[in-house]
Amino acid sequence: MAVTRTFSIIKPDATRRNLTGAVTKMLEDAGLRVVASKRIRMTREQAEGFYAVHKERPFFGELVEFMTSGPVVVQVLEGVDAVKRNRDVMGATNPADAAEGTIRKTFAESIEANSVHGSDSDENAKIEIDFFFDEDEIVG
Ligand code: PPS
Repeated sequence: MAVTRTFSIIKPDATRRNLTGAVTKMLEDAGLRVVASKRIRMTREQAEGFYAVHKERPFFGELVEFMTSGPVVVQVLEGVDAVKRNRDVMGATNPADAAEGTIRKTFAESIEANSVHGSDSDENAKIEIDFFFDEDEIVG
């Protein structure tokens, strides 16, 4: 299996509850290495652009409001089969469906305030990493 990269966001519900370290520890314990990380306040333009694929969905406005409601931590994670490894440790989008021991089961408040985002494919990981990071900000 190849070492690959994925993109992660620690969402406002998690930064508000001071869970950045606890979430990052679960990512690291799952075999992922944080090779880039920055705490930002997402602008409305960034949130609308990042989630453009969901713009026709009924929750789009609420999702943008939520993601701009507080600081987030955007990260690049590296590891063997990183996209799948990250999605496995994140758990299902809706915490009610997430498996025991996953980040969302442990910390998420709702399907919206679900603590973390993770890329769903290698292709989208590259797009999402490029959306927030310059290559020289990533130190493997
Ligand atoms: S996924 O992860 O793409 O398979 O899940 P999906 O259901 O398509 O959800 C995409 C993102 O939208 C968020 N979401 C919602 N936000 C607010 N309200 C409702 N009802 C809602 N349903 C889904 C969900 O947390 C996903 O966010 P990301 O950041 O992509 O994980």
